[in-house]
Parts: sequence; C-alpha cells; structure tokens
Amino acid sequence: FIHVSASVEITSIVFGSITDSYLYSRRPSFCPINETADTQSAEDCGKTAVVFSLKNEVGCLVKALRLFQVRQRRVNLKHIESRASRRLVNEVEIFADCSCSKKEFNELLQLLKDQVNIVSFNTPAHVWAAEADGDDVPWFPMKISELDQCSHRVLMYGSELDADHPGFKDEVYRHRRKYFVEVAMSYKFGQPIPRIEYTAEEVRTWGVVFRELTKLYPTHACREYLKNLPLLSKHCGYREDNIPQLEDVSLFLRERSGFTVRPVAGYLSPRDFLAGLAYRVFNCTQYVRHSTDPLYTPEPDTCHELLGHVPLLADPKFAQFSQEIGLASLGASDEDVQKLATCYFFTIEFGLCKQDGQLRAYGAGLLSSIGELRHALSDQACVKMFDPKTTCNQECLITTFQDVYFVSESFEEAKEKMREFAKTIKRPFSVYYNPYTQSIDLLKDTRSIENVVQDLRSDLTTVCDALGKMNTYMGI
Ligand SMILES: [Fe+2]
Repeated sequence: FIHVSASVEITSIVFGSITDSYLYSRRPSFCPINETADTQSAEDCGKTAVVFSLKNEVGCLVKALRLFQVRQRRVNLKHIESRASRRLVNEVEIFADCSCSKKEFNELLQLLKDQVNIVSFNTPAHVWAAEADGDDVPWFPMKISELDQCSHRVLMYGSELDADHPGFKDEVYRHRRKYFVEVAMSYKFGQPIPRIEYTAEEVRTWGVVFRELTKLYPTHACREYLKNLPLLSKHCGYREDNIPQLEDVSLFLRERSGFTVRPVAGYLSPRDFLAGLAYRVFNCTQYVRHSTDPLYTPEPDTCHELLGHVPLLADPKFAQFSQEIGLASLGASDEDVQKLATCYFFTIEFGLCKQDGQLRAYGAGLLSSIGELRHALSDQACVKMFDPKTTCNQECLITTFQDVYFVSESFEEAKEKMREFAKTIKRPFSVYYNPYTQSIDLLKDTRSIENVVQDLRSDLTTVCDALGKMNTYMGI
C-alpha cells in the first residue's frame, strides 16, 4: 500500500510487479449503505471517495492525481492509496478520498469515467482495505455519528402491528405509535432526545408494571441492579406515577458508565443493534405497551428498556461487557454476528449471576417480566454455566420462557469469556475503541498498533507514578 498525503508533490511512483492475477470481474458487494431519506448527506459532509483502476505502469499514480487537478476543480484530495487490482490483471486500483460538493463530485466522476475504469464510489476506506485480504467486510460505523444509519434501518416499524398484537384494532393506539416512529426516525446523533408527554393511560400502564416488578426485585434482581434503581428514582424520576424521560436517563448513564441511549422506532437487525453497543449506545423504544394487558408485551417497549436494561447499563463492569459484544460484531460475518446476538440474548436479555451463593437475574427480559423472573429463579428452570462457545448455539425463544438460562460468576468473568470468544471471529483486523474521538481505530498495521501502545504506555506511567506515591507517602 502506498499512502500519500494530498499536499505532497509527487513526481513519480513506480509500483512493484503484480504477481497475483485475479481474472474475475465482479461488482463489489460492499455498496455504500445509505438508507436514510436524507439525500443531502453527501453534500452536507462534503466528503466522498472513489475507487478506480488504471494500467500498472511507471507514473500511473501521477496520471491519476492529474485527473483531480483539471479545470481548477475545487476537489480536495484528502487521501490516496493504491494496490494491485484483484479484478483486472496488470492494473492498479486507486482509492481516492476527496472533499468536495456533491455537484463537483458528480462532475469528477463523469470526467474519470472517460479516462479510467471506475470500480465503485462512496466506499468506506476500511471496507476497501479489507477487501485486499480477500474478505468482503460488511459495512460498519467507524464513528459514533454514523450510528444514525444503523438506528434508522428499522426492520419493523413500531406502528405496523401484527394481527395478534393487543393494540391491532385500536386506532388511537396505532396513531400514537406512528408518532413515536416519527420521533425516533427524525432523531440524529448529538440532539437532545425529545421529551414525551405521556398520556394518563400510558402512565397508568407503566404504573402497574413498575408496582408489580419492584415487589420482586429485592429477592430476584442482582446487587448492581438494586444499587442503581434508587439512584434512578432520585435522578431520573423512576416512580409509579411517572414515566422517566430518555434524555434524563441518557445523561445519568453517561455519568455513571459512559453509556447513552437513543430512541429507536422498532426492531433493528442484530448487526445494527450490536454496533450501537460498540459505542456504548443503547437503542431504546419510547412507546408504551397496550393498556389492555400491562403485564404482557409482544415486543420491547419503554417499560422493558427503562426497568430491564437501564439500571444495569449504569454499572461500569456491565457496560464494559456490553461494549465487548458490540466491538466483536463490527465487520464480522453474518454467521458470527448471529452467534454474538445469541450470546447477547442469553446474557444481557436473559442472564443470571451467582451472588452470595444465590442465583440472581441481570437480564432485561427477566427483570421486565414478572412471570419469567419468577420462573428463571425457580427449581423448574434449567441453568447452565455461560460459555460463549456453547451458549452461541442455544435456541432463542421469543414467545415462551427459555429452555435454558446461563449463569456467570461476575460481569468481569463474562467479559473475559466474550473477549476469548471474540478472538475466534474471522476478521482481517482488530478494532480499538478510541474514547476521545468516539470512533474505531482499525489495528491492521504497525503504525495503528503503535498509536495504541503509546496510549497504554502513558496509562502505565500514571499507574507506576501512583504506586510510587503510595510507597513514598504510605509505605505500601
Ligand atoms: Fe431488550
């Protein structure tokens, strides 16, 4: 790979001889995914990329660069990389990352079309780079704001209810659900989450769920849950007569564990949902289940999110564990994502832990369901040790209680097991979450690894300094 900065003047570059000859020609399967209705996005961000190929000969990169200079086009070439083409023998493929308006980019494409073979455009750099290793890496968000694309790609809108849904024949309820869809679909990263004025009926429904579940928590919920619930009452208005607002919850979580929540219209695919966890972002529904049966819901609703998930997300160790699953999913194959989604299901949704010699629940599916919470901790339930290698093959049951529940000694232990399991996932790179920029660093060459090592070195220096001070001042 040759990396050059746009500001460097290049006179000549000679490419090495191409020994691998991939004769097949196929369209890339990594077309950009942009399913948001926002057609302005390319114009707004002013950043785009094109991949094209041309003859492998002396000076071909210079020739490519000249294409970006003609007619004083205001195209800023930010980054350029080249490699032997996998598609055509004796051709090189150039990845050019530019910054320009949509109009200028379209003009540039027209011009390039006459002179080179355009392979694709708007292809993310990491997807293009990964393809060199013979792997088609599925798109994934490289920075937190790109989660907008994941969260808007809803599989099933919250307003399209099945015929057996309790609210199917209730026009008022269906209309209300449409409103929640609109709120979630217009939400973008960085905005405050719109506050909902819940109706008296919705508050009553929430109240029944809250009252009944809080009776069970002291004997059934894990200690981390019991520690955080009173804090949520104090800071976020968790009360029988009040449905907490996601914005308050998000600010609270950010302080406790670095997690935030964002509204979502309905079900996401496992890949899109897990991508959120990689950034410590949890997608939460905001609507309330139908009032006819407050203790039953065929889908996640705000009672499930607020009572099931949120108290645990405030725990730093649980947050780390959740993020670990999310990071493992980025760029993984469909098969591996499915395995991770199953691990997610049997931990974050239906997990049990052992505390003071007793089984306790930490899974949100249990902590938001009176019937299953009682069942999972009874003699009737089958309980096995959590081990991602075997847990990932267990069938997830949606409409009945689970056949098996999985128990962990601690979140720390579960996290270590997930980390080990993540090593078995086939990916041509490792991912590192950069908390300063809330983005993903791909560790695939010595330069990127060196950056992480420098961060670690600085952390170790701080730890050594602290140990030195303990020794000096406390004699420890
Ligand atoms: Fe859930």
